[in-house]
Amino acid sequence: KKPIIIDCDPGHDDAMAILWALACEELEIKAVTTVAGNQTIEKVTNNAVRVLTKAKAFHIPVAKGAQEPMVKKLVVGGELVHGDSGLEGPKLPENGFEISQLSALSLIEKVLKESNEKVTIVAIGPLTNVAELLITRPDLKEKIEEISIMGGGTVGNWTPAAEYNIFADPEAAKVVFNCGIPVIMSGLDVTQKAYVTREENERLRAQGNEISVFAAELIDYFSRYHYEVEGFPGCTLHDPCAVAALVHPEIFSYKQCNVDVELRGELTTGMTVVDTIDYQKKLFGKTVNHNTKFLYDVDREKFVQFFLEAMGRLG
Ligand code: BDR
Ligand code: CA
Repeated sequence: KKPIIIDCDPGHDDAMAILWALACEELEIKAVTTVAGNQTIEKVTNNAVRVLTKAKAFHIPVAKGAQEPMVKKLVVGGELVHGDSGLEGPKLPENGFEISQLSALSLIEKVLKESNEKVTIVAIGPLTNVAELLITRPDLKEKIEEISIMGGGTVGNWTPAAEYNIFADPEAAKVVFNCGIPVIMSGLDVTQKAYVTREENERLRAQGNEISVFAAELIDYFSRYHYEVEGFPGCTLHDPCAVAALVHPEIFSYKQCNVDVELRGELTTGMTVVDTIDYQKKLFGKTVNHNTKFLYDVDREKFVQFFLEAMGRLG
């Protein structure tokens, strides 16, 4: 089994990413750590515990992480999209277990140190925790296999240029892309293609098991924004892409290329700059660091089929 740590800010799509990972035999979730983003750190941590409680995954440690981005002030992303609690819509159980006494950073360090194999980090919120780990414990980089993130893209969803997770903490994102560990990037180019239609959501609900019904209710709430504000043809499953990229890499199209982050643009702060053409190399003979596996397309029907199957395997 591939050991993973999920660093997240649940969030409806974070919740579904956690559930998908739980359903995968190929993956073993060693820890869930939280970061302020879609809502405040208290709310998203509470949501993480409740989602794991709902899935009866009481054994997975949850630790609370950064309450503010590295440099800028927190811009809570979720009011419109995820609601006041960060996870509005379905009825959630009360917390079924206590969070870890350790901070997110200490828990990640512990998991990395104790693991005999390299660990993959799935980072689906602002990248504050991950960057702080890389800065404070560079010696632990050798224990990280790769970092599968949901973030960025060649389009934006918070500003016209910037996707929310990167916009929320661009300094952290810059550290992560440039850290030397392979990054798999599920940005908006691919995640906006990974949507679930109304008809498919009814099929999910009709599977009838508790978690499928729960996921369908998450989609009921989350999709309002995608239909009414964004005018999209379905509910965009951003964060689940970062899990699917690990277990079903064959359904994605990608380019290995350089990605960096704009920190001081007049219109573009928080934008990921994706060099799919290698211009610096072609024009000036410069060495280009292909630091990122940039996912740009997905076989949507297979993605939805795998998602439904995964939800059906849970209780
Ligand atoms: C990202 O921002 C949040 O709303 C989602 O959870 C996802 O991680 C999409 O831009
Ligand atoms: Ca998220």
